[in-house]
This record gives sequence, C-alpha cells and structure tokens, in this order.
Amino acid sequence: MAKKILVTGGTGYIGSHTVVELQNSGYDVIVVDDLSNSSIDVLDNIEKISGKKPAFEQFDLADATKTDEFFSRNSDISAIIHFAASKAVGESVQKPLLYYRNNLVSLMNLLDCQLKYNVANIVFSSSCTVYGQPDVLPVTEETPRKDAESPYGNTKRVNEDILSDSILAFPQLKGIALRYFNPIGAHPTALIGELPLGVPQNLVPFITQTAAGLRDELKVFGDDYDTVDGSAVRDYINVVDLAKAHVVAIERLLEGKNKKSYEIFNLGTGNGLSVLEIVNGFEKATGVKLNYKVVDRRAGDIEKIWADTTFANEELGWKAEKGTEETLLSAWNWEKKVRGIK
Ligand code: UD1
Repeated sequence: MAKKILVTGGTGYIGSHTVVELQNSGYDVIVVDDLSNSSIDVLDNIEKISGKKPAFEQFDLADATKTDEFFSRNSDISAIIHFAASKAVGESVQKPLLYYRNNLVSLMNLLDCQLKYNVANIVFSSSCTVYGQPDVLPVTEETPRKDAESPYGNTKRVNEDILSDSILAFPQLKGIALRYFNPIGAHPTALIGELPLGVPQNLVPFITQTAAGLRDELKVFGDDYDTVDGSAVRDYINVVDLAKAHVVAIERLLEGKNKKSYEIFNLGTGNGLSVLEIVNGFEKATGVKLNYKVVDRRAGDIEKIWADTTFANEELGWKAEKGTEETLLSAWNWEKKVRGIK
C-alpha cells in the first residue's frame, strides 16, 4: 500500500511542487494548510499535473487541539514534510510574536503528535538564511550558523534546534533539515508556481511582474558589492529540482538509509549568480526587455552566498539539474498564465 505523507503548507509555492513529485513517486499525500498565503485552487492544478487530488484539511498547526485531533484520525501517516510557516522577512520585523508563534508552535505541536501517534519521520524546511554572511564560500553544512538578521530567520534557526534537541531526547524520532538557497521558477506545465500577495519582496517574482507590466521598474538593490559586477550574489535553485530533493529525503528516512537521526543538507546548485546576471538571463531566456534601475543596497541583505553541494550530491544522491535560463523561462510562463498574457 502507498505510504501516506503529510505535507504541511502543501498549497504553498515549494509545498505544491513537492506534493506533485511525491505523487509522481507513488506516495499518498495529505495536505494541511490554513490558506493564509495560498489558494485552495492549487489543489485542482496539482490534480491536473499528477492526475490525483491530494487529501486536504484546512487548519492552523499552531492550534494544538486541532493538530492533535487531526493526528488521531490520521495515525497511518508515515512521514511529515513541514513547510507551513510565515516567511516575509520585513513583516517578521514588524510582527515578531506572530512569527515566533506561527513558526515555532506549529513545529512543537507536530513533534508532540509525532511522539503521541508514533510518526517517526520529519523533513523540515530550513533556509540558507541560518548562515548569515559566511566568512568562507561556498558554505558547507559544517559552516557555523550566524545570528539571524530577522525574527523570520531566527525561527528557522530555533526550529532547527527544536528539531535536533527533540531527536536527541526521543530516539524514536528521525529528521532531516533541508537548507534551501533561493528557490525560483515554476512547474513546466505553468499550472503551479509562486504567487506572492501584494508587492513581491523576492527578486524573480518582481522581475516577472515588471515584465508583465504590473510594476514600472525593477530596483536592483546595490551595485557596489565585492562581486563580479557589484550586484549581490545568490544560489538560485529550480523549484522542481528542490521538490525532488524532498522525495529523496523522505525515502532516505523511510528506508532507514540515514546515517544519523538528525541530518542537514544544503539544497542549491553550487553556482552563485548576481542580480544583474539574473536580469540578463531573464532577458535572454524570454526575449523580454526589463526596465530596471540600480538603487541603494537593501537593509539586511548579505553580499554573496552559494552552496557547497558535495554532501547533498554524494550522500543524498541528488543534484540540481535545470539550467538558469530554463528556470527563468518557467517563471515567465507561469506569470503569463496567471495574468492571461499570450
Ligand atoms: C530572502 C530572505 C531569506 C529568505 C528568502 C526566501 C532577506 C534578507 N532574506 O532571501 O531570509 O529565506 O528570501 O525566499 O530578505 N533584489 C533586488 N531587487 C528586488 C528584490 C531583490 O535587487 O526587487 C535582490 C536582493 O537584494 C538580493 C537578491 O535580489 O540580492 C535576492 O533577493 P530575494 O529574492 O529577496 O532573496 P534573499 O534576499 O536572498
């Protein structure tokens, strides 16, 4: 019988792509999402891609009673992938309590239920934000974490600690933290993708909305960094490649291939690209000219980061495969679909 995986935040950007990849690999998926930053229609689009609509329940995992009641009805869950979280860096500075409550309490509620209902396995959605500006590049999983720049970033760091401390205390638990670099792009069908509410904070959604005419111009935050062309450098990873890594992590846990009870993997491409390289790549991939202007640096931004992917490549047996231009084109195709542009 197909194993059942709980995907929290499964109607969100990375969650929805992961649901599709899990279904394509033969898993049964149940999604829990409070729909605070996503739409129920995503489930229909997942079905159009995979041929299967995932089971779905709408509630907030920070509600301990509802979470417990959910597990009492779903004790056949084999593993959890925990995406559900608030993720806007700027908002987290304004509303720290909201961020700590949403992001920390939901993980603690899940862990309580894992212990009570014997669900051994969890994959946690972490971020390269835990490294801050590393002293040495590229960053390996052993690179020391730095103090977070925002409450959002701190919730990733503290949640990693909650997970590792819990796994240490309760040997029946096993977990993998996946530290994502910068996920971009959309499913090649253009049926699912990133749909930010309001003005996008992240680079690629801002680029595609500018190209679509929703924004007048892209602001490039800084061209005086110590990088190839002065603009800041990140490791941009295709969201479908990223989703596939979750399937590998789940299999690793379910098949007992993990070497330690708590493991960490960097998920990136291993290549750093500057903001201007992304802008040029977008123009080349799509043939659309972007209106952009260089402005001051954005507060809290780091200069450059990219992943050392050796451990993920060798130990997980996973590698990012898609090229940047293909990925940027997929983001544009998704934006066009959403806006009804031919
Ligand atoms: C941000 C968060 C990070 C989080 C990630 C989630 C910060 C400091 N970090 O990463 O914690 O995990 O999002 O996706 O906010 N840029 C522009 N113009 C724009 C938007 C962005 O030039 O309109 C530049 C930024 O300055 C940066 C790069 O593009 O150099 C990428 O920015 P973004 O997509 O926001 O990601 P991060 O800042 O790397």
